[in-house]
Formats: sequence, structure tokens, C-alpha cells
Amino acid sequence: MEVKLIEALDPTLPTYLFLTQENLSQLLALIPEPVRKALESKEKAADADASFSYRTPEFHLEAYGLGAEAALEPEKLRKTLHGAIGQANHLKYKNIQLAFTLVGEHPKAEYLVKALGEIPVLSNYQFLAYKSEKKHNTLLEAGVYTNHAQKSTWVSQATAVAKATTLVRDLVNEPPNVLTAEELARRAKDLGEQWGFGVEVWDKARIHDEHMGGLLAVNRGSQDPPTYTILTWKPEGAPDEKPLILVGKGVVFDTGGLSLKPTASSMDYMKCDMAGAGAVIGAFVALAATGVKRHVIGLMPATDNRPGENAYTPNDVVTMMDGSTVEVLNTDAEGRMILADALHHAKQFKPQLVISLATLTGSAAAAIGSQGAVAFSNADDSLTEKLLASGFLVHERLVRFPLWADYSDMLKSDIADRKNIGGPKAGAITAAKFLEHFTDYPYVHLDIAAPAWNDKPDDYRGKNGTGWAVRLLHDFISHLA
Ligand code: BES
Ligand code: ZN
Ligand code: ZN
Repeated sequence: MEVKLIEALDPTLPTYLFLTQENLSQLLALIPEPVRKALESKEKAADADASFSYRTPEFHLEAYGLGAEAALEPEKLRKTLHGAIGQANHLKYKNIQLAFTLVGEHPKAEYLVKALGEIPVLSNYQFLAYKSEKKHNTLLEAGVYTNHAQKSTWVSQATAVAKATTLVRDLVNEPPNVLTAEELARRAKDLGEQWGFGVEVWDKARIHDEHMGGLLAVNRGSQDPPTYTILTWKPEGAPDEKPLILVGKGVVFDTGGLSLKPTASSMDYMKCDMAGAGAVIGAFVALAATGVKRHVIGLMPATDNRPGENAYTPNDVVTMMDGSTVEVLNTDAEGRMILADALHHAKQFKPQLVISLATLTGSAAAAIGSQGAVAFSNADDSLTEKLLASGFLVHERLVRFPLWADYSDMLKSDIADRKNIGGPKAGAITAAKFLEHFTDYPYVHLDIAAPAWNDKPDDYRGKNGTGWAVRLLHDFISHLA
């Protein structure tokens, strides 16, 4: 799907107008003469909220009424754009044009204009790799007409970030017999070569030499070796600063291990358990594609979690990379085991901030559903607020949960330094407290268990892997002062 800016409307192409009270006459003025005449009578009817459509054999116009400009939320425009893309494919169009203009100053102008660049890509996404008969969408190109002074930067950036998001969807949707930990690392390597970020992959021997006990323990039940992948982005012109680090959970399939998941259906979608690592890869592609001048490092521990004959076992005590001990009481709490080693490893880079992303707990999913992700932070409040604000602007919303000290009491073990589960209550929080132990820097943890995957289609986020958090991370990092 290609998105390009256009300077005028082509009278031969299907045309979608996104009308506000303020831009109505501006947009109608762009329409070819005979059509405009025919519409003029309708113009009064086409008040701010009324949508209308005009179709002749030669011309198709769809106009969506969005109300007053000042009250227009980017998410409303995104959803309306999604509807337009759906209709265009339904009508088997190959090339369409989208027109939206702003008349006044709008505090969310950037996100409104970016919607035009991102939604055609996000809405047109398909995963057809394993279909013998590939029923491709017909839509190949969307021309975007808009008027903001920053339009060329914003639209092209948004398209690039959306494409990075669809790369993550591909990674999440890949079946686990294809996307092993080694394959995940290879894909990261290929993308690094393509986009110009550094990729170093540690194999099992190196992981062993580095004493990554958590990652090795989870990997013991598997036939396939683990990987640990380090991404580096420090473009010319980036400030000489402490790095920002992104850590992603890369469990390429989670059976639960010996503490096997209780039902077949609870395993149905567990190829999505590498969505955190996927988001990190996607964020790097987005940062590189848009040339964001920051120093960023990505860390991705990866393995599958299986009940093979040598599998790590409830009651095992595992010595982690930081030398502390963990009593395993549920092998299905594997994400924190592998993330803990990455979080310890992150210390050596003296980061200004570390953000981990993980499909970590059913508890987070149960708490807020796929409408958002659960966020934990011990970083300073203004930075945390900025991340939450990015979440609202790109509509990858975060809700902050506590990291109160007494939740750690729930992780006390009789024989080791801590255990890997905290009991039936506050599961997302005790998981975050477990992770926090392995940090010594400002830390944010995002539990993306619910929004990383959709069972049914959800607007422009689609069905199955959503690529969640790429747009969030790109927005947050690219706007850091
Ligand atoms: N990968 C799962 C969490 C998950 C659940 C992700 C649903 C996506 C959708 C994770 O490894 C897990 O199994 N967590 C357990 C932890 C428990 C054993 C303490 C959970 O949340 O049930
Ligand atoms: Zn698990
Ligand atoms: Zn898991």
C-alpha cells in the first residue's frame, strides 16, 4: 500500500472527503466542476455531521461529516478513514484519494494529519503468507490531499511508522513452527541490515557464558535453542546521551511448560507471546525509517516455553544473571524469568530509562481488556506523564498501576530470594515487582497481554497480531526533548 501527497484532486478517481463544519466549502471547492454543481444543492443538507455519497458511472464521491473541527478527535478521523478503506476494497478500487483540511489551529493537528498517512496502511493489512489462494485487497494506492504546513513530514512519517507496525503484525502472525527464537533473531538481523540499525545475536553458548540463568531455565524444555538479540540505534547527530533501552519478551510460543496451560483454548494464540519483542523490532524500524536522532538500545531474550523432558520444573531454584535465586512455582510465569536477565544486562549501559514490553499476565488482560495496556513506572512523573500522553494521542492507551513496595512481600520464597509467582491476586503487579528487582535505573514496564492480539477484527487494528506499541514508542521517543 502506497500513500502519497497530492496537490489537487483527480476527477477520475474515487474521492473520500472528511468534512468538518469549517472545511466543508474548502473541500467542496476541490471537486470537479460538474460534480460540484450537482452537489451545491446538497451542500446545505451536508451540514457538519451529515455524510453523503454521490455516484455516477464516471465519479464516486463519499463525504463523511465529522462535526466541528475543534472537537474532532484523531481517533474519530482514524475510524472514519478505516471505513473508507474498507469500502474502497469492497468496491474493488485500486487507487483512491482522501481529502481532509484544517482551517484553524488544532492542538492535535499532528495526529489528525498523521491519521491520513497511517490508516490506509494499517487498514489495508493482510497476512496471506500461508494461503494458497491469495485474495489480495485491490487497493494499492491512496493519494492524500491536506493543507498543513507540516504535511509532508507528518504524512510520510505516519506511513513509515504504520508500515513498521505491519511488520510486527507479520512477526506475531507467523506460526511458531516457522518463527523460532533463532528465526526471530534472523528477522531482526535482516531488518537491521535493511534499515541501518545494529543487530548482535547471542547464541546459546554465549547466553550460557553470560550466566543468563532465567533464559536458560525456560529454554530447557525446548528442542530449539534460545537467542538474545541486541539492537543498537545511534544515528549521526544523536545527542551523546545515556541510552534509552527497550526490552521485549520474545516467547515464540508459550505452552505454559510443565505447568501446562489449563485449557487448549488458553494456548490458542500463544504465538503472540513474542509481541513485546516484535514491538521492539518495530520501534527500531520506525525510528530508523524516520531518522529519529536518539540513542536507543533494544534487548530481546527469546525462546519457546515447552514441557520437554528436561523442562524446568516447579520447585526448581534458578540462579539468575544477577546472582539472585528464584524458586519456580509455576513454569507458565516464564516471561519474567527471561526478562529479568535482560533487565539485569541493561544496567551495564547506564540507561536514562528502560521500557519493557511484554504479554506478561492474564491478570493485566482481565483488568482492562484490549482497550489499553497496563503501565508501571518508577521513572519521574513528568516522563511517565509524557508516555501516558503519547498513549492517548496515538490511541494506544495506558493505565498506570502501582509499584508499591508491599506487593513484593507476595513474592517471598521459603528457600530462595524470591519466587516467580505472587498468588492469585494482583498478578500483573506482582509480575512487575518481580521485574523491578532486576533494575537499578528509571523503569517503565508495559503489560501488553491484551492489546497485542485481537480474536476478532477491531477497526484499523485488525484481527490477530495488532503491532501494538510501535506507534506509541515512536511518538514518545520522537517527541522526547
Ligand atoms: N503469556 C502469558 C500471559 C498471557 C495471557 C498473554 C493471555 C496473552 C494473553 C504468561 O506467560 C502467563 O502464562 N502468565 C501467567 C502467570 C501466572 C502463572 C502467574 C498468567 O497470567 O496466568
Ligand atoms: Zn506463560
Ligand atoms: Zn508467556
